[in-house]
Amino acid sequence: MKVEAIKDYVREITSQEFSGHDYLHLERVLQNAELLMQSEEGFKRDVIVTAVLLHDLIDEKLTNNINEMIDEIRIKMREWGLTDDERAEVLDIITHMSFAKNLEQHHVLNLDGEIVQDADRLDALGAIGIGRAFTYGGHANNLMYNPNEAVRENMTSAEYRQHSTVINHFHEKLLKLEGEMNTATAKKLAARRTAFMRFYLDEFTAEINGDK
Ligand code: ADP
Ligand code: NI
Repeated sequence: MKVEAIKDYVREITSQEFSGHDYLHLERVLQNAELLMQSEEGFKRDVIVTAVLLHDLIDEKLTNNINEMIDEIRIKMREWGLTDDERAEVLDIITHMSFAKNLEQHHVLNLDGEIVQDADRLDALGAIGIGRAFTYGGHANNLMYNPNEAVRENMTSAEYRQHSTVINHFHEKLLKLEGEMNTATAKKLAARRTAFMRFYLDEFTAEINGDK
């Protein structure tokens, strides 16, 4: 399989991307996946590596025509030398990771999919996760925090999303990811990264409250 060709392809597509899906995210997720694979058995490395590198391309943040992108990926995967079965599995993993995320639905992934999902989620946690959350907040014109949180409780869901803050995102999503990890290694890493985020949030709150 031509890994360097896949990397060149995604590097080019993500070169104008600043909402958290830049190429360095893909490199880190790949590194996470390599680490998780060390403690697992029965996975397919080529499927995992390809799915990691392609997983964000069919996010609506990166393409305005998801079906066209899926067709393009199908053709590219032939060029990169993936077998019929491998191509089908990669597509299954990346479509379900992304659609399930958007629909808040739970889809049962196989071990390869679980590793890709864990590797991606780990990059939303810890010091890197904090950096990505604030980067996203700036990109989406969201405030860091809302001192008047009660106001948001009476909003419609669309308004509610619009008034999302970075600190809210920690409570609504990031602190919950630790409980959703699939593999034992990811659970361990997530626990450490989540503890660090909690420590950070305590400091953040203390500073907002005048270090009282
Ligand atoms: P991924 O495919 O990597 O999981 P997402 O699109 O879910 O990507 O998010 C990309 C990054 O942006 C993640 O680190 C995530 O925590 C952050 N992010 C997503 N939505 C928000 C939000 N509303 N506020 C702050 N950060 C966010
Ligand atoms: Ni991702």
